[in-house]
Amino acid sequence: MATRLSLLLCGLACAVTTTLAQPSPQVQSRITKAIKAAANLSSSDIDYTQFVNVFIGTDNFGDVCPGASVPFGMVKFSTDMTGYAPAGYITDNTQTIRGISPLHDSGTGSSLGTYGNFEVMPMTCPGGFDTCLTSLTARETFRKNNTDDASPGYFALTLDNGIKMEATSTRRAGLERFTFPKRTKPYFVLDLANDLPGSFAGGSMNIDPQKGRITLNGLWSSSFGPTSFFHEIFACYDVTNGGNQTLDEFGVWTADTNGLDAKGLGQTQLNFTRNLIGGVYQSGALFSFKNTPQEILLRVGISFRSTDQACSNAETEVGSSSFDEVVAQSKALWNEKLSKIEIDVANTPENVTEMLYSSLYRSFLTPNNATDETQGPFADTTHHYFDSLYCSWDTFRTFYPLMSLTSPVEFAQIVDSYIDAWRVHGWMPECRANHMRGWTQGGSSADPIVGHFAITYHDEAEALGIDLNDLYSALLADGNDTPPNWDIEGRQADAYIKYGYVPASALVTNSVGRQTREGSRTLEYAFEDFAIRQVALLLNKTQDVETFTQRSLNYRNVFDGSVKSDGFQGFAQKRFSNGTFVFTDPINCSPQDNVSRSCSLQDSNTGGFYESSSWEYSWFAPHDTAHLISLMGGNETFVKRLNHFFDAGYYQAGNEPSFQTPIGYHYANHPALSVDRVRDVVFSNFDITPAGIPGNDDQAAMATLLSWHLLGFYPVPSSSQLLVLSPFIPKYTIHNSFLNVSTTITTKGFDLRSVKQTIPKNVAAYVANVTINGVPSASRCHVDFYDTFKTGGDVVIEVTADKDSADSCNGLLPESISTGGFATVR
Ligand SMILES: *[C@@H]1O[C@H](CO)[C@@H](O)[C@H](O)[C@H]1NC(C)=O
Ligand SMILES: *[C@@H]1O[C@H](CO)[C@@H](O)[C@H](O)[C@H]1NC(C)=O
Ligand SMILES: *[C@@H]1O[C@H](CO)[C@@H](O)[C@H](O)[C@H]1NC(C)=O
Ligand SMILES: *[C@@H]1O[C@H](CO)[C@@H](O)[C@H](O)[C@H]1NC(C)=O
Ligand SMILES: *[C@@H]1O[C@H](CO)[C@@H](O)[C@H](O)[C@H]1NC(C)=O
Ligand SMILES: *[C@@H]1O[C@H](CO)[C@@H](O)[C@H](O)[C@H]1NC(C)=O
Ligand SMILES: *[C@@H]1O[C@H](CO)[C@@H](O)[C@H](O)[C@H]1NC(C)=O
Ligand SMILES: *[C@@H]1O[C@H](CO)[C@@H](O)[C@H](O)[C@H]1NC(C)=O
Ligand SMILES: *[C@@H]1O[C@H](CO)[C@@H](O)[C@H](O)[C@H]1NC(C)=O
Ligand SMILES: *[C@@H]1O[C@H](CO)[C@@H](O)[C@H](O)[C@H]1NC(C)=O
Ligand SMILES: *[C@@H]1O[C@H](CO)[C@@H](O)[C@H](O)[C@H]1NC(C)=O
Ligand SMILES: *[C@@H]1O[C@H](CO)[C@@H](O)[C@H](O)[C@H]1NC(C)=O
Repeated sequence: MATRLSLLLCGLACAVTTTLAQPSPQVQSRITKAIKAAANLSSSDIDYTQFVNVFIGTDNFGDVCPGASVPFGMVKFSTDMTGYAPAGYITDNTQTIRGISPLHDSGTGSSLGTYGNFEVMPMTCPGGFDTCLTSLTARETFRKNNTDDASPGYFALTLDNGIKMEATSTRRAGLERFTFPKRTKPYFVLDLANDLPGSFAGGSMNIDPQKGRITLNGLWSSSFGPTSFFHEIFACYDVTNGGNQTLDEFGVWTADTNGLDAKGLGQTQLNFTRNLIGGVYQSGALFSFKNTPQEILLRVGISFRSTDQACSNAETEVGSSSFDEVVAQSKALWNEKLSKIEIDVANTPENVTEMLYSSLYRSFLTPNNATDETQGPFADTTHHYFDSLYCSWDTFRTFYPLMSLTSPVEFAQIVDSYIDAWRVHGWMPECRANHMRGWTQGGSSADPIVGHFAITYHDEAEALGIDLNDLYSALLADGNDTPPNWDIEGRQADAYIKYGYVPASALVTNSVGRQTREGSRTLEYAFEDFAIRQVALLLNKTQDVETFTQRSLNYRNVFDGSVKSDGFQGFAQKRFSNGTFVFTDPINCSPQDNVSRSCSLQDSNTGGFYESSSWEYSWFAPHDTAHLISLMGGNETFVKRLNHFFDAGYYQAGNEPSFQTPIGYHYANHPALSVDRVRDVVFSNFDITPAGIPGNDDQAAMATLLSWHLLGFYPVPSSSQLLVLSPFIPKYTIHNSFLNVSTTITTKGFDLRSVKQTIPKNVAAYVANVTINGVPSASRCHVDFYDTFKTGGDVVIEVTADKDSADSCNGLLPESISTGGFATVR
């Protein structure tokens, strides 16, 4: 998903008011201080969590969750705000808080939001139990300005009534700590029904005052998928802190927006079926503690299997650990991940250090590891299970390729989960959220993800628990089998195979799916075919190599050479089954489009492209750009057209199909122009503020794009090719703890003055040559994963101020199928 969806559904009604009141200014000053101090520390003494600003992306539709989580944590504690806040939290101070809750996703474009179940809201009820403000609107409270605080493994927010809420977590459980003003009796409202999308479909709650335990469970629907699918969530709140807090009053409450406000002191049960007439249920528990303890600790366990398992998750993962112990454990887990990339902190610009580690943090925040927490058709699986694959269309380009540098074990576990979905459903997931299948966007974008794993780790696949034959079968199913409904998995394969493109306005009799996005679906299907072709090549499936190589060239079939725009000719267009193209102005759905129209998954999106214009999507053939250049009229026109694309404002930094476009110059033998463009893209779209990413993080698609730019490389998915750019960092080392190799990248001639939007004249930044373990690279435009990060050692990227001399590949261009590229796999 990308920004446009939320912008469209959200409209002007929820334009963001940026106030500088959150987070606490101490967050940034603490980070700055840590970065300065680290200049004099040896890398093993560095606490990398101190460089992370978890608030980046919590404004400007970034939809990042700054909540407390462990790497890939199922639990992410954050407060839930009113207004447009799909991840629960936003910095916007004009919004109020309804509680703090243990489940959130990060970076999703879902305009309804996801999770936010089982919110607990602390309060003082001066008039006693019956006067507590329990309903959703009545309990809304502002926070104190300049006080929000969070860091990896820790989250804190102070309400304007003085109550401080803090949280820390393990994978499936955590602790909430509340500090009340002196001499007040602590009350808590616990919400059974509400989730951010307001999708409750029944559930129950039980208060056991003897045990000091409240268990809850219920059904909710999807945040980005069919609302007819439901998932079940279970929670276990232990409220007496091992006997150190004593419950006083307890009971249930129920409310609505029309004046219903009822409380049942002493009652311990709620049991609701689905409300068939509609309307939001508001109901839950209300309890207080004896005396006036200032601090209250609640232990929370979550499960997707049963309330018993939710309780045992809290018992085994948290047990009687203190709040600070859980924070320390979480920070240690984060340091293990973040230290996989070590940089020369002393000589790297502070903002770059902060952007890099904040991005790496988010690259390990999702997807959510729900292994052993499966339900529905996955209930009995023995495989890993990851949720919030949100969505593969977003993540195949930069997220998984970055993971391949440092984390093959984690990558393999996620691939295992993708393949398992093929075993269960018959197709791999494109989008999976809340344990259910979500909407497809470009087709089966899982293909380039598992393809990238196979290409980069086939020798280790078995040791990593991946059966390449299963992986290949899953790819073939995605590529060849039409599902009954291609909106939730797979592709419209039969029509695509028959015509060589996804036909517009086609007669369909044996399956269903939204007949839109024919142009972009064809482009994505073709690239997905390239992924299948790569694995076929790896496995010596000669006939399939032939078939899928041909199919990967189908992007050409939606290229209408007659369409002109702004003086450039040849644009992707949708096409009827009789071959006639359907004209769509290439500017439509671009940022320059003045007309309000449907550009996303709506059935009224008649333009042929998903969340993009034809200007934007027509660049998309990463496996065959050489031929695309011919289609567009040759190198010179291609470069002019790229320049015009950026200058005219058609580029969308926050949109996935645009990710590789700034590096397109490489393919026309002008790598120095890519270097200039990437500097501009980074400095005009990213920074260290809450508004510091250009739209939804999209399961860290944006974070990993930025990471690649800062590191000075860019991956071609499903291949081992890495395009070479100009690092923003003078020296860094990437550790791969599975392969036991470390790779050090040195930017020889690095000049701090080059790290800005426009590289000044006479400042070194352009790649003069690349040397790998002492051997000059055959091209300065690209290197191979097998020669660099797979082998380890030293890579020296020497930069020069002489832009003209550096503005060619000085050797082979990046590979393209039509010029004999990708002939073998390593
Ligand atoms: C780091 O060390 C250098 C020289 O050893 C010193 O000048 C500088 O003040 C130190 N910086 C910090 C942040 O301690
Ligand atoms: C917080 O700051 C905003 C201005 O950014 C102001 O309007 C608001 O009244 C302040 N809120 C509180 C609770 O002080
Ligand atoms: C409860 O209080 C006892 C005695 O003060 C203390 O030893 C114990 O650690 C406390 N337990 C928790 C969970 O705080
Ligand atoms: C809740 O009610 C349903 C029927 O309405 C019943 O089947 C179920 O056992 C009840 N659950 C509890 C926990 O009482
Ligand atoms: C996911 O959780 C399982 C079960 O605890 C664990 O074995 C696995 O290592 C975890 N994977 C990641 C990537 O966190
Ligand atoms: C594919 O063929 C090559 C060359 O004959 C051989 O080295 C390789 O082991 C084969 N791979 C598989 C998976 O059969
Ligand atoms: C192709 O089909 C479309 C839609 O039915 C129709 O408008 C167009 O005229 C047809 N083109 C040809 C060449 O028959
Ligand atoms: C958009 O509006 C501006 C100002 O009215 C106009 O100059 C421009 O041509 C319009 N663009 C399109 C694509 O219609
Ligand atoms: C673009 O330039 C490259 C290298 O100079 C050359 O190999 C290629 O043929 C050119 N492409 C076209 C379409 O002219
Ligand atoms: C660092 O980022 C902040 C926030 O965007 C900006 O104000 C500041 O100028 C940046 N500093 C440098 C040295 O680029
Ligand atoms: C990496 O090192 C660890 C610990 O020394 C060892 O167990 C493992 O087998 C090594 N892995 C490889 C791929 O060599
Ligand atoms: C690399 O580039 C630098 C700067 O242009 C140059 O001085 C040096 O000789 C080059 N080295 C090689 C091996 O080409």
